[in-house]
Amino acid sequence: MDKIVLKGGTPLHGEVEVSGAKNAALPILASALLAEGTTTFRNVPDLADVKTMLAVLRTMGCEAERLTGKKADTCEISITGDITPEAPYDLVKTMRASILVLGPLVARFGRARVSMPGGCAIGARPIDQHLKGLKALGAEIHLTEGYVEARAKQLKGGMVNFDVITVTGTENVMMAAVLAKGRTVMENCAREPEVEELARVLNKMGAKVEGAGSSVITIEGVESLNPVDHAILPDRIEAGTLLVAAAISGGNVLVKHARPEHLDAVIDKLRESGCTITAEGGGLRCKAPRSLKSVNITTTEHPGFPTDMQAQLMALMTVSHGTSVISENIFENRFMHVPELHRLGADITIQGHTAVVKGVKGLSGAQVMATDLRASASLILAGLRAEGQTEVSRVYHLDRGYERLERKLRGLGADIRRVKERA
Ligand code: EPU
Repeated sequence: MDKIVLKGGTPLHGEVEVSGAKNAALPILASALLAEGTTTFRNVPDLADVKTMLAVLRTMGCEAERLTGKKADTCEISITGDITPEAPYDLVKTMRASILVLGPLVARFGRARVSMPGGCAIGARPIDQHLKGLKALGAEIHLTEGYVEARAKQLKGGMVNFDVITVTGTENVMMAAVLAKGRTVMENCAREPEVEELARVLNKMGAKVEGAGSSVITIEGVESLNPVDHAILPDRIEAGTLLVAAAISGGNVLVKHARPEHLDAVIDKLRESGCTITAEGGGLRCKAPRSLKSVNITTTEHPGFPTDMQAQLMALMTVSHGTSVISENIFENRFMHVPELHRLGADITIQGHTAVVKGVKGLSGAQVMATDLRASASLILAGLRAEGQTEVSRVYHLDRGYERLERKLRGLGADIRRVKERA
Protein backbone atom coordinates (compact mmCIF):
# COMPACT_ATOMS: atom_id res chain seq x y z
CA MET A 1 0.00 0.00 0.00
CA ASP A 2 1.33 3.42 -0.90
CA LYS A 3 1.24 6.59 1.10
CA ILE A 4 1.80 10.19 0.14
CA VAL A 5 4.32 12.16 2.15
CA LEU A 6 4.40 15.93 1.78
CA LYS A 7 5.85 18.99 3.44
CA GLY A 8 3.69 22.10 3.41
CA GLY A 9 4.53 25.74 3.05
CA THR A 10 5.60 26.12 -0.59
CA PRO A 11 3.37 28.37 -2.72
CA LEU A 12 2.66 26.49 -5.96
CA HIS A 13 3.61 28.13 -9.25
CA GLY A 14 3.57 27.19 -12.91
CA GLU A 15 1.30 25.29 -15.27
CA VAL A 16 -0.41 21.94 -14.95
CA GLU A 17 -2.60 19.91 -17.31
CA VAL A 18 -5.91 18.37 -16.41
CA SER A 19 -6.50 14.74 -17.47
CA GLY A 20 -9.66 13.29 -19.01
CA ALA A 21 -12.75 13.13 -16.82
CA LYS A 22 -13.18 9.96 -14.78
CA ASN A 23 -16.94 10.33 -14.48
CA ALA A 24 -17.29 10.80 -18.23
CA ALA A 25 -14.88 7.98 -19.09
CA LEU A 26 -16.76 5.34 -17.06
CA PRO A 27 -20.18 5.58 -18.81
CA ILE A 28 -18.50 6.23 -22.15
CA LEU A 29 -16.42 3.04 -21.89
CA ALA A 30 -19.64 1.16 -21.06
CA SER A 31 -21.32 2.69 -24.12
CA ALA A 32 -18.93 0.71 -26.35
CA LEU A 33 -21.18 -2.29 -25.62
CA LEU A 34 -23.82 -0.69 -27.82
CA ALA A 35 -21.90 -1.03 -31.09
CA GLU A 36 -20.30 -3.87 -32.99
CA GLY A 37 -16.66 -3.37 -34.03
CA THR A 38 -13.80 -1.40 -32.51
CA THR A 39 -14.46 1.75 -30.54
CA THR A 40 -11.58 4.11 -29.73
CA PHE A 41 -11.58 6.53 -26.82
CA ARG A 42 -8.77 9.03 -26.32
CA ASN A 43 -7.84 11.22 -23.35
CA VAL A 44 -8.92 8.37 -21.06
CA PRO A 45 -7.35 8.95 -17.63
CA ASP A 46 -5.17 6.14 -16.28
CA LEU A 47 -7.02 5.45 -13.04
CA ALA A 48 -7.94 2.45 -10.93
CA ASP A 49 -11.65 2.96 -11.74
CA VAL A 50 -10.96 2.99 -15.48
CA LYS A 51 -8.96 -0.24 -15.10
CA THR A 52 -11.94 -1.76 -13.29
CA MET A 53 -14.34 -0.76 -16.08
CA LEU A 54 -11.99 -2.28 -18.69
CA ALA A 55 -11.86 -5.46 -16.58
CA VAL A 56 -15.68 -5.55 -16.40
CA LEU A 57 -15.84 -5.32 -20.20
CA ARG A 58 -13.18 -8.04 -20.57
CA THR A 59 -14.97 -10.51 -18.27
CA MET A 60 -17.94 -10.29 -20.62
CA GLY A 61 -15.83 -11.23 -23.61
CA CYS A 62 -14.97 -7.80 -25.06
CA GLU A 63 -11.43 -6.94 -25.97
CA ALA A 64 -10.78 -3.85 -23.87
CA GLU A 65 -7.23 -2.53 -23.65
CA ARG A 66 -5.25 0.61 -23.03
CA LEU A 67 -2.68 1.22 -25.76
CA THR A 68 0.94 1.95 -24.92
CA GLY A 69 3.69 4.46 -25.75
CA LYS A 70 2.49 7.67 -27.37
CA LYS A 71 -1.06 6.32 -27.42
CA ALA A 72 -1.17 5.51 -23.72
CA ASP A 73 -4.16 7.83 -23.27
CA THR A 74 -6.19 5.68 -25.68
CA CYS A 75 -8.43 2.70 -24.96
CA GLU A 76 -9.80 0.42 -27.63
CA ILE A 77 -12.81 -1.76 -27.10
CA SER A 78 -13.85 -4.42 -29.60
CA ILE A 79 -16.85 -6.63 -29.63
CA THR A 80 -16.34 -9.33 -32.17
CA GLY A 81 -17.52 -12.63 -30.73
CA ASP A 82 -20.13 -13.68 -28.18
CA ILE A 83 -20.74 -11.63 -25.08
CA THR A 84 -21.69 -12.98 -21.66
CA PRO A 85 -23.77 -10.08 -20.38
CA GLU A 86 -22.77 -10.42 -16.76
CA ALA A 87 -20.84 -8.20 -14.32
CA PRO A 88 -19.68 -10.26 -11.32
CA TYR A 89 -19.68 -9.27 -7.64
CA ASP A 90 -15.87 -9.28 -7.39
CA LEU A 91 -15.60 -6.37 -9.81
CA VAL A 92 -18.77 -4.47 -8.94
CA LYS A 93 -17.85 -4.45 -5.24
CA THR A 94 -14.67 -2.54 -6.09
CA MET A 95 -16.52 0.05 -8.18
CA ARG A 96 -20.23 0.88 -8.02
CA ALA A 97 -20.11 2.56 -11.43
CA SER A 98 -19.88 -0.97 -12.94
CA ILE A 99 -23.70 -0.76 -12.83
CA LEU A 100 -23.36 1.43 -15.95
CA VAL A 101 -23.17 -1.71 -18.09
CA LEU A 102 -26.75 -2.67 -17.17
CA GLY A 103 -28.52 -0.32 -19.58
CA PRO A 104 -26.35 -1.02 -22.64
CA LEU A 105 -26.40 -4.79 -22.05
CA VAL A 106 -30.14 -5.14 -21.83
CA ALA A 107 -30.63 -2.81 -24.80
CA ARG A 108 -28.22 -4.62 -27.09
CA PHE A 109 -28.26 -8.24 -25.90
CA GLY A 110 -31.76 -8.46 -24.40
CA ARG A 111 -30.50 -9.55 -21.00
CA ALA A 112 -28.07 -8.57 -18.29
CA ARG A 113 -26.98 -9.91 -14.94
CA VAL A 114 -25.13 -7.36 -12.86
CA SER A 115 -24.17 -7.66 -9.21
CA MET A 116 -26.06 -5.12 -7.05
CA PRO A 117 -23.66 -2.44 -5.86
CA GLY A 118 -23.78 -2.23 -2.09
CA GLY A 119 -23.53 1.00 -0.15
CA CYS A 120 -20.21 2.78 0.03
CA ALA A 121 -18.28 4.93 2.45
CA ILE A 122 -20.11 8.13 1.48
CA GLY A 123 -23.69 6.83 1.57
CA ALA A 124 -26.22 4.06 0.91
CA ARG A 125 -26.42 4.93 -2.79
CA PRO A 126 -29.42 2.90 -3.97
CA ILE A 127 -30.06 2.19 -7.68
CA ASP A 128 -33.86 2.17 -7.58
CA GLN A 129 -34.06 5.00 -10.14
CA HIS A 130 -31.89 3.09 -12.65
CA LEU A 131 -34.28 0.15 -12.32
CA LYS A 132 -37.39 2.33 -12.47
CA GLY A 133 -36.14 3.80 -15.76
CA LEU A 134 -35.35 0.42 -17.31
CA LYS A 135 -38.75 -0.94 -16.26
CA ALA A 136 -40.41 2.05 -17.94
CA LEU A 137 -38.72 0.90 -21.16
CA GLY A 138 -40.21 -2.56 -20.73
CA ALA A 139 -37.35 -4.45 -19.05
CA GLU A 140 -38.35 -7.18 -16.62
CA ILE A 141 -36.21 -6.85 -13.54
CA HIS A 142 -35.56 -9.46 -10.86
CA LEU A 143 -33.27 -9.23 -7.87
CA THR A 144 -31.82 -12.63 -7.01
CA GLU A 145 -28.73 -13.79 -5.13
CA GLY A 146 -27.42 -10.23 -4.94
CA TYR A 147 -27.74 -9.71 -8.68
CA VAL A 148 -29.98 -7.51 -10.81
CA GLU A 149 -31.31 -9.54 -13.69
CA ALA A 150 -32.86 -7.58 -16.51
CA ARG A 151 -34.53 -8.99 -19.60
CA ALA A 152 -36.31 -7.53 -22.60
CA LYS A 153 -36.60 -8.97 -26.09
CA GLN A 154 -36.86 -5.43 -27.40
CA LEU A 155 -36.95 -2.35 -25.18
CA LYS A 156 -39.72 0.11 -26.03
CA GLY A 157 -39.54 3.86 -25.68
CA GLY A 158 -41.38 5.24 -22.66
CA MET A 159 -41.79 8.07 -20.16
CA VAL A 160 -39.27 8.15 -17.33
CA ASN A 161 -39.69 10.67 -14.55
CA PHE A 162 -36.85 10.32 -12.05
CA ASP A 163 -37.92 10.84 -8.41
CA VAL A 164 -34.34 11.72 -7.50
CA ILE A 165 -31.80 13.41 -9.76
CA THR A 166 -29.15 10.79 -10.46
CA VAL A 167 -26.09 11.07 -12.67
CA THR A 168 -25.36 7.41 -13.42
CA GLY A 169 -29.12 6.65 -13.38
CA THR A 170 -29.68 9.20 -16.15
CA GLU A 171 -26.72 7.75 -18.07
CA ASN A 172 -27.81 4.12 -17.68
CA VAL A 173 -31.34 4.76 -18.88
CA MET A 174 -30.09 6.97 -21.72
CA MET A 175 -27.84 4.14 -22.95
CA ALA A 176 -30.80 1.75 -22.85
CA ALA A 177 -33.20 4.11 -24.62
CA VAL A 178 -30.94 4.71 -27.65
CA LEU A 179 -31.70 1.20 -28.92
CA ALA A 180 -35.33 1.04 -27.73
CA LYS A 181 -38.12 1.05 -30.28
CA GLY A 182 -39.74 4.48 -30.44
CA ARG A 183 -39.42 7.63 -28.40
CA THR A 184 -38.31 7.97 -24.76
CA VAL A 185 -38.79 11.11 -22.75
CA MET A 186 -36.72 11.33 -19.57
CA GLU A 187 -37.65 14.01 -17.02
CA ASN A 188 -35.79 15.31 -13.96
CA CYS A 189 -32.48 14.23 -15.48
CA ALA A 190 -29.03 15.05 -14.15
CA ARG A 191 -27.54 18.03 -16.04
CA GLU A 192 -23.86 17.30 -15.39
CA PRO A 193 -21.36 17.93 -18.24
CA GLU A 194 -20.55 14.19 -18.13
CA VAL A 195 -24.16 13.36 -19.09
CA GLU A 196 -23.88 15.78 -21.99
CA GLU A 197 -20.58 14.21 -23.02
CA LEU A 198 -22.11 10.73 -23.04
CA ALA A 199 -24.94 12.01 -25.24
CA ARG A 200 -22.35 13.50 -27.59
CA VAL A 201 -20.68 10.08 -27.92
CA LEU A 202 -24.00 8.27 -28.40
CA ASN A 203 -25.01 10.74 -31.13
CA LYS A 204 -21.65 10.22 -32.85
CA MET A 205 -22.50 6.50 -32.82
CA GLY A 206 -25.71 7.31 -34.64
CA ALA A 207 -28.14 7.71 -31.73
CA LYS A 208 -30.79 10.44 -31.61
CA VAL A 209 -30.48 12.07 -28.21
CA GLU A 210 -31.72 15.62 -27.63
CA GLY A 211 -31.69 17.82 -24.56
CA ALA A 212 -28.77 16.29 -22.61
CA GLY A 213 -27.46 18.96 -20.25
CA SER A 214 -31.04 20.05 -19.50
CA SER A 215 -33.49 18.28 -17.20
CA VAL A 216 -35.54 16.77 -20.07
CA ILE A 217 -33.86 14.38 -22.49
CA THR A 218 -35.70 13.02 -25.52
CA ILE A 219 -34.43 9.99 -27.38
CA GLU A 220 -35.64 8.47 -30.65
CA GLY A 221 -34.52 4.87 -30.65
CA VAL A 222 -32.48 3.58 -33.60
CA GLU A 223 -31.91 -0.01 -34.78
CA SER A 224 -28.16 -0.13 -34.41
CA LEU A 225 -25.14 2.00 -33.55
CA ASN A 226 -21.65 2.25 -35.01
CA PRO A 227 -18.30 2.33 -33.22
CA VAL A 228 -16.68 5.76 -32.86
CA ASP A 229 -13.43 7.54 -32.10
CA HIS A 230 -13.79 10.15 -29.38
CA ALA A 231 -11.56 12.18 -27.05
CA ILE A 232 -13.00 12.53 -23.53
CA LEU A 233 -13.51 15.98 -22.04
CA PRO A 234 -11.21 17.28 -19.25
CA ASP A 235 -12.00 16.44 -15.63
CA ARG A 236 -13.72 19.43 -13.98
CA ILE A 237 -13.23 18.00 -10.48
CA GLU A 238 -9.50 17.46 -10.97
CA ALA A 239 -9.33 21.00 -12.39
CA GLY A 240 -11.18 22.37 -9.35
CA THR A 241 -8.87 20.44 -7.01
CA LEU A 242 -5.79 21.96 -8.70
CA LEU A 243 -7.29 25.46 -8.46
CA VAL A 244 -7.75 24.91 -4.73
CA ALA A 245 -4.14 23.66 -4.51
CA ALA A 246 -3.02 27.04 -5.89
CA ALA A 247 -5.32 28.89 -3.49
CA ILE A 248 -4.45 27.01 -0.30
CA SER A 249 -0.69 27.15 -0.92
CA GLY A 250 -0.76 30.90 -1.56
CA GLY A 251 0.39 30.31 -5.14
CA ASN A 252 -0.35 31.26 -8.73
CA VAL A 253 -1.10 28.39 -11.12
CA LEU A 254 -2.45 27.99 -14.65
CA VAL A 255 -4.65 24.90 -14.84
CA LYS A 256 -4.62 24.01 -18.52
CA HIS A 257 -7.74 22.55 -20.16
CA ALA A 258 -9.94 23.58 -17.19
CA ARG A 259 -13.26 24.56 -18.76
CA PRO A 260 -14.77 27.64 -17.07
CA GLU A 261 -18.30 26.74 -18.23
CA HIS A 262 -18.13 23.50 -16.19
CA LEU A 263 -16.79 25.17 -13.07
CA ASP A 264 -19.05 28.20 -12.55
CA ALA A 265 -20.07 27.38 -8.98
CA VAL A 266 -16.50 26.52 -7.93
CA ILE A 267 -15.07 29.65 -9.56
CA ASP A 268 -17.70 31.80 -7.81
CA LYS A 269 -16.71 30.39 -4.40
CA LEU A 270 -12.98 30.77 -5.04
CA ARG A 271 -13.52 34.39 -6.10
CA GLU A 272 -15.68 35.02 -3.03
CA SER A 273 -12.82 33.70 -0.90
CA GLY A 274 -10.52 36.30 -2.45
CA CYS A 275 -8.79 34.35 -5.23
CA THR A 276 -8.29 35.91 -8.64
CA ILE A 277 -9.53 33.48 -11.28
CA THR A 278 -8.96 34.30 -14.93
CA ALA A 279 -9.50 32.41 -18.16
CA GLU A 280 -6.16 32.09 -19.93
CA GLY A 281 -4.67 29.97 -22.69
CA GLY A 282 -7.51 27.45 -22.83
CA GLY A 283 -7.54 27.01 -19.08
CA LEU A 284 -7.99 28.83 -15.78
CA ARG A 285 -5.47 30.65 -13.65
CA CYS A 286 -5.87 30.89 -9.89
CA LYS A 287 -3.91 33.49 -7.97
CA ALA A 288 -4.26 33.24 -4.23
CA PRO A 289 -4.96 36.36 -2.15
CA ARG A 290 -2.79 37.40 0.79
CA SER A 291 -5.48 36.26 3.15
CA LEU A 292 -8.36 33.91 2.30
CA LYS A 293 -11.95 34.72 3.38
CA SER A 294 -14.48 32.17 4.60
CA VAL A 295 -17.41 31.39 2.30
CA ASN A 296 -20.52 29.27 2.78
CA ILE A 297 -21.10 26.27 0.53
CA THR A 298 -24.18 24.19 -0.21
CA THR A 299 -23.74 21.18 -2.44
CA THR A 300 -26.47 20.52 -5.01
CA GLU A 301 -26.81 18.88 -8.38
CA HIS A 302 -25.15 20.55 -11.38
CA PRO A 303 -25.06 23.48 -12.06
CA GLY A 304 -24.91 23.94 -8.27
CA PHE A 305 -21.79 23.45 -6.17
CA PRO A 306 -20.58 19.83 -6.73
CA THR A 307 -20.43 17.40 -3.85
CA ASP A 308 -17.21 16.12 -5.43
CA MET A 309 -15.54 19.46 -4.54
CA GLN A 310 -16.94 19.78 -1.01
CA ALA A 311 -14.02 18.15 0.82
CA GLN A 312 -11.45 20.21 -1.10
CA LEU A 313 -13.23 23.52 -0.40
CA MET A 314 -13.52 22.50 3.23
CA ALA A 315 -9.73 22.10 3.37
CA LEU A 316 -9.45 25.65 2.02
CA MET A 317 -11.90 26.97 4.59
CA THR A 318 -9.88 25.52 7.48
CA VAL A 319 -7.29 28.28 6.90
CA SER A 320 -9.61 31.08 5.74
CA HIS A 321 -10.47 34.11 7.83
CA GLY A 322 -13.89 33.77 9.51
CA THR A 323 -16.47 31.01 9.81
CA SER A 324 -17.78 28.92 6.94
CA VAL A 325 -20.97 26.84 6.89
CA ILE A 326 -20.78 23.87 4.53
CA SER A 327 -23.96 21.89 3.81
CA GLU A 328 -23.77 18.52 2.08
CA ASN A 329 -27.07 17.74 0.38
CA ILE A 330 -26.22 14.89 -2.00
CA PHE A 331 -24.69 12.17 0.18
CA GLU A 332 -25.53 11.41 3.81
CA ASN A 333 -22.03 10.52 4.97
CA ARG A 334 -19.59 12.71 3.12
CA PHE A 335 -17.80 14.35 6.05
CA MET A 336 -15.35 11.57 6.83
CA HIS A 337 -12.43 13.86 6.09
CA VAL A 338 -13.42 16.01 9.08
CA PRO A 339 -11.83 13.90 11.85
CA GLU A 340 -8.68 13.67 9.73
CA LEU A 341 -8.62 17.43 9.14
CA HIS A 342 -8.93 17.80 12.96
CA ARG A 343 -5.66 15.88 13.22
CA LEU A 344 -4.04 18.62 11.15
CA GLY A 345 -5.38 21.28 13.52
CA ALA A 346 -8.64 22.30 11.82
CA ASP A 347 -11.59 23.61 13.85
CA ILE A 348 -14.72 21.97 12.41
CA THR A 349 -18.01 21.03 14.07
CA ILE A 350 -20.54 18.79 12.37
CA GLN A 351 -24.27 19.29 12.92
CA GLY A 352 -26.21 16.80 10.84
CA HIS A 353 -25.46 17.47 7.18
CA THR A 354 -23.76 20.78 7.98
CA ALA A 355 -20.16 21.43 8.95
CA VAL A 356 -19.15 24.68 10.62
CA VAL A 357 -15.53 25.49 9.85
CA LYS A 358 -13.76 28.17 11.89
CA GLY A 359 -10.63 29.30 10.12
CA VAL A 360 -7.43 28.74 12.11
CA LYS A 361 -4.10 30.58 11.75
CA GLY A 362 -2.21 27.51 10.61
CA LEU A 363 -2.33 23.74 10.25
CA SER A 364 0.38 21.39 11.38
CA GLY A 365 1.47 18.24 9.57
CA ALA A 366 0.37 14.84 10.89
CA GLN A 367 -0.32 11.26 9.85
CA VAL A 368 -3.80 11.01 8.39
CA MET A 369 -5.86 8.41 6.59
CA ALA A 370 -7.78 8.77 3.34
CA THR A 371 -11.33 7.46 3.63
CA ASP A 372 -12.65 8.07 0.13
CA LEU A 373 -11.54 9.63 -3.12
CA ARG A 374 -12.31 13.29 -2.57
CA ALA A 375 -11.43 13.06 1.14
CA SER A 376 -7.94 11.95 0.16
CA ALA A 377 -7.58 14.99 -2.12
CA SER A 378 -8.69 17.30 0.70
CA LEU A 379 -6.03 15.87 3.04
CA ILE A 380 -3.30 16.44 0.47
CA LEU A 381 -4.53 20.00 -0.05
CA ALA A 382 -4.47 20.65 3.69
CA GLY A 383 -0.98 19.10 3.82
CA LEU A 384 0.22 21.61 1.21
CA ARG A 385 -0.58 24.35 3.71
CA ALA A 386 0.39 22.59 6.95
CA GLU A 387 3.65 23.29 8.68
CA GLY A 388 5.91 20.23 8.72
CA GLN A 389 5.28 16.79 7.30
CA THR A 390 1.91 15.22 6.48
CA GLU A 391 1.55 11.55 5.61
CA VAL A 392 -1.62 10.43 3.90
CA SER A 393 -2.14 6.67 3.97
CA ARG A 394 -4.65 4.51 2.07
CA VAL A 395 -3.97 6.44 -1.12
CA TYR A 396 -5.60 3.73 -3.19
CA HIS A 397 -8.66 5.93 -2.75
CA LEU A 398 -6.79 8.78 -4.47
CA ASP A 399 -5.68 6.52 -7.31
CA ARG A 400 -9.30 5.72 -8.15
CA GLY A 401 -9.85 9.23 -9.45
CA TYR A 402 -6.67 11.31 -9.78
CA GLU A 403 -4.04 10.58 -12.40
CA ARG A 404 -0.63 10.97 -10.76
CA LEU A 405 -1.72 13.91 -8.60
CA GLU A 406 1.52 13.92 -6.61
CA ARG A 407 3.57 14.24 -9.82
CA LYS A 408 1.43 17.12 -11.01
CA LEU A 409 1.80 18.92 -7.67
CA ARG A 410 5.55 18.27 -7.64
CA GLY A 411 5.73 19.92 -11.08
CA LEU A 412 4.27 23.02 -9.43
CA GLY A 413 6.96 23.04 -6.76
CA ALA A 414 5.33 21.01 -3.97
CA ASP A 415 7.54 18.86 -1.76
CA ILE A 416 5.53 15.68 -2.20
CA ARG A 417 6.33 12.05 -2.90
CA ARG A 418 4.76 8.61 -2.96
CA VAL A 419 6.21 6.03 -0.62
CA LYS A 420 5.59 2.28 -0.72
CA GLU A 421 4.16 1.17 2.58
CA ARG A 422 4.25 -2.41 3.83
CA ALA A 423 0.73 -3.86 4.21
N1 EPU B 1 -29.97 8.02 -5.57
C1 EPU B 1 -31.11 7.34 -5.25
N2 EPU B 1 -31.55 6.37 -6.11
C2 EPU B 1 -30.89 6.06 -7.26
C3 EPU B 1 -29.72 6.78 -7.58
C4 EPU B 1 -29.28 7.75 -6.72
O1 EPU B 1 -31.74 7.58 -4.22
O2 EPU B 1 -31.35 5.16 -7.99
C5 EPU B 1 -29.47 9.08 -4.67
C6 EPU B 1 -28.08 8.79 -4.12
O3 EPU B 1 -28.13 7.94 -2.99
C7 EPU B 1 -27.54 10.16 -3.82
C8 EPU B 1 -28.17 11.00 -4.93
O4 EPU B 1 -29.28 10.26 -5.43
O5 EPU B 1 -28.02 10.59 -2.58
C9 EPU B 1 -27.26 11.34 -6.08
O6 EPU B 1 -26.59 10.17 -6.52
P1 EPU B 1 -26.17 9.91 -8.04
O7 EPU B 1 -26.90 8.72 -8.53
O8 EPU B 1 -26.29 11.16 -8.82
O9 EPU B 1 -24.65 9.54 -7.87
P2 EPU B 1 -23.88 8.52 -8.78
O10 EPU B 1 -24.42 8.60 -10.15
O11 EPU B 1 -23.81 7.20 -8.11
C10 EPU B 1 -22.07 10.20 -9.63
C11 EPU B 1 -20.57 10.31 -9.59
C12 EPU B 1 -20.13 10.61 -8.17
C13 EPU B 1 -20.76 11.94 -7.75
C14 EPU B 1 -22.29 11.84 -7.87
C15 EPU B 1 -23.01 13.14 -7.55
C16 EPU B 1 -19.95 8.78 -11.36
C17 EPU B 1 -19.32 7.52 -11.77
N3 EPU B 1 -20.01 9.04 -10.05
O12 EPU B 1 -22.41 9.14 -8.75
O13 EPU B 1 -18.72 10.75 -8.21
O14 EPU B 1 -20.43 12.24 -6.42
O15 EPU B 1 -22.64 11.44 -9.22
O16 EPU B 1 -22.57 14.15 -8.37
O17 EPU B 1 -20.36 9.58 -12.21
C18 EPU B 1 -16.57 10.90 -7.26
O18 EPU B 1 -16.13 11.07 -8.42
O19 EPU B 1 -15.88 11.09 -6.24
C19 EPU B 1 -17.95 10.46 -7.09
C20 EPU B 1 -18.40 9.90 -5.98
